[in-house]
Amino acid sequence: MISAKMKLANFLHLLLVYIIYPPPPSSSSSSSSEVLLIKRGFSTSPSQPPFHPILNEPSGVFSFGFLEVGSSQLDLAVIHLPSGQPVWRAIPASPASWDGSISLSFNGSLVLSDARKGVIWSTSTVDGDSLVLLNSSNLQIQKKLGEATSVLWQSFDFPSDTIVQGQNFTSKAALLSENQKFSMSLGFNYLALYMEFNGVAAAPMYWKRTALQAKAQIIQGKGPIYARVDPIGFLGMYQTEEVPVDVLSFDTFNRGIPGLRRLTLESDGNLKAYYWNGSAWVLDFQAIDNLCELPSTCGAYGLCQAEQPRCGCLDNSTSGCPLADSGNLCSVGGDEYTIFRSKGVELANKELANHLKVASLEECEQSCKQNCSCWGAVYNNVSGFCYSIDYPIQTLAEAGDEQKTGYFKVRTTRASSGGGLKNKAGIVLLLVAGVLVFLAAAGFGAYRVWKQRRRSSDASTVECPYKDLKSGSSFRSIELSESFRK
Ligand SMILES: *[C@@H]1O[C@H](CO)[C@@H](O)[C@H](O)[C@H]1NC(C)=O
Ligand SMILES: *[C@@H]1O[C@H](CO)[C@@H](O)[C@H](O)[C@H]1NC(C)=O
Ligand SMILES: *[C@@H]1O[C@H](CO)[C@@H](O)[C@H](O)[C@H]1NC(C)=O
Ligand SMILES: *[C@@H]1O[C@H](CO)[C@@H](O)[C@H](O)[C@H]1NC(C)=O
Ligand SMILES: *[C@@H]1O[C@H](CO)[C@@H](O)[C@H](O)[C@H]1NC(C)=O
Ligand SMILES: *[C@@H]1O[C@H](CO)[C@@H](O)[C@H](O)[C@H]1NC(C)=O
Ligand SMILES: *[C@@H]1O[C@H](CO)[C@@H](O)[C@H](O)[C@H]1NC(C)=O
Repeated sequence: MISAKMKLANFLHLLLVYIIYPPPPSSSSSSSSEVLLIKRGFSTSPSQPPFHPILNEPSGVFSFGFLEVGSSQLDLAVIHLPSGQPVWRAIPASPASWDGSISLSFNGSLVLSDARKGVIWSTSTVDGDSLVLLNSSNLQIQKKLGEATSVLWQSFDFPSDTIVQGQNFTSKAALLSENQKFSMSLGFNYLALYMEFNGVAAAPMYWKRTALQAKAQIIQGKGPIYARVDPIGFLGMYQTEEVPVDVLSFDTFNRGIPGLRRLTLESDGNLKAYYWNGSAWVLDFQAIDNLCELPSTCGAYGLCQAEQPRCGCLDNSTSGCPLADSGNLCSVGGDEYTIFRSKGVELANKELANHLKVASLEECEQSCKQNCSCWGAVYNNVSGFCYSIDYPIQTLAEAGDEQKTGYFKVRTTRASSGGGLKNKAGIVLLLVAGVLVFLAAAGFGAYRVWKQRRRSSDASTVECPYKDLKSGSSFRSIELSESFRK
């Protein structure tokens, strides 16, 4: 099923490339692919999936249009034409489907509407004069004021999962992986990656790059830092334009690579930089090299065994790991869970987790047991550190030694209680409440499934987290996939 999906995705991708590249530069027909500027009053509806170009730019590398995502859903996107790679997507809060009901108009604001649902996405600008696509891939709504042109809105300020070279990534923006499970944002003096969970108060950080400030210091009060991919091959962090406060260099740093560069937060949680070599995207940097250190390589309650390499379960189960969970245990009552322990497990990037020094394993477990926002803890018998996992348990790595012990909570779903109730009315009430809770949970589940579906396209959902293993990793995807939840 996974491979069928991937085949379909590959096929769609090839089809997309076939259809849109090379775009026939004919002057006679297909005038829609030649549009370089859109003025107020413009309106169009999607036709010809998987990509319907609306606006192009002079160099012919990028195009803005309707993009088919997932199965028959639609988004607005800026596409890198030679590869079919989206470098920007609108990602409306409500899904749009590829049928006759969708229209895009420009009336000063760029508005995507559905005949039934009304406006589903808009730039919320008021009096833009024109919509243009720059050769940098930046989509802009501009306004003429005499000789000057001001920019009312630009796609560069609202990145989806990618930034391209020259694009400023500011502290107001965030990257969100296509499957919506991971995000990237800037702090006062660092860039960080986070896991996204519903109902977890603070998104847990799993990767952090602190500005080294080798050539320039970050000065408080001088404004927030921003990041930008430089065409010579590095990710720079800046506070002012002159000198970067940090340089994170890529493999081809300063090697005179002319191709376009992009930085993408992938659906496996890794941050990767690529350059376009004229026929393919070449991997040039990845934030996390070791697959077992990615947050959910082996899924929830997964154990990543680096030496084999393969995925197992933290509880040694061979019939599937405990089910994935979300949120915290506080809302349902902090005691509705069972626990298990496992020896020889390691939390990746544990220095980013809450930790404290304790006297014993018992003390470590007790501190987690008493705190409903704690899902588990890893105790290191040598250092005495107790690392608390304050989010639903994901993948842990196998540790070489037995000194590290993990303690994990598993929510007991629909725990039956009510033994103390003698009153029949009470029992009836409880049943009704139970049914209501169950319905609400089912509804919420359906909503989440729906939400997930609409936001992920076939190629990169959680179901195939190993699609990028070919590049830059010694792991064999077959081995991992086979052992994954078999
Ligand atoms: C543009 O159209 C949208 C949707 O119909 C509407 O909400 C908005 O007020 C319009 N803006 C202007 C400036 O007319
Ligand atoms: C992009 O446009 C700018 C000015 O608008 C121009 O200087 C530059 O050469 C163009 N780049 C390409 C690759 O066409
Ligand atoms: C990025 O930020 C710098 C400094 O504010 C500015 O000079 C530059 O024009 C910005 N680039 C883009 C593409 O917005
Ligand atoms: C681009 O990279 C691909 C994959 O690494 C390689 O097969 C191809 O030969 C490269 N093309 C050029 C022009 O270097
Ligand atoms: C799983 O097996 C390993 C080695 O056999 C053992 O150390 C560990 O405690 C077991 N974990 C559980 C949860 O049974
Ligand atoms: C529970 O854990 C969270 C996260 O580590 C922490 O912020 C909070 O203070 C803890 N609560 C108690 C009562 O220890
Ligand atoms: C932890 O260390 C103590 C003292 O060194 C030792 O007695 C104990 O067996 C160790 N426990 C584990 C789980 O390794």
